[in-house]
Amino acid sequence: MKQHQYRPDALIEVLHRAQKLFGYLDTNLLLHIAQRLKLPPSRVYGVATFYHFFSLAPKGIHSCVVCLGTACYVKQAAQLLSCLENATGIKAGETTADGQLSLMTARCLGACGIAPTVVFDEQLEGHQTLERVTQRLKSCLSASRP
Ligand code: FES
Repeated sequence: MKQHQYRPDALIEVLHRAQKLFGYLDTNLLLHIAQRLKLPPSRVYGVATFYHFFSLAPKGIHSCVVCLGTACYVKQAAQLLSCLENATGIKAGETTADGQLSLMTARCLGACGIAPTVVFDEQLEGHQTLERVTQRLKSCLSASRP
């Protein structure tokens, strides 16, 4: 915040940096940012919850983002999400109890030409199928288990 001279218009940059430092944005952190940037807490909370990039809860070791944008949706992205939700026992926006995986959705990942797309651990993968996401989920989770 000091780097941005505590300017209110630096809110998004500050939230990015805070998330990078702490992993997620908890309520006390959002209130602190609001106070230091002299912004209403509702504004800071509104921005933090508007962008999918920001997380208000700790994220899992692995992440999986299913694109539900139009191009992906018409190519069965909702079924991919259901498959992942069934396999993990969590809903989009949640993290497994063991902290291994966070499952998220996005509106468009900017790769509509290879729809449907899923991002596993920040690696974009296109032309996804139920079999491919299931296999990818297994290898993703087994990689971190002894
Ligand atoms: S709609 Fe999914 S990448 Fe654009």
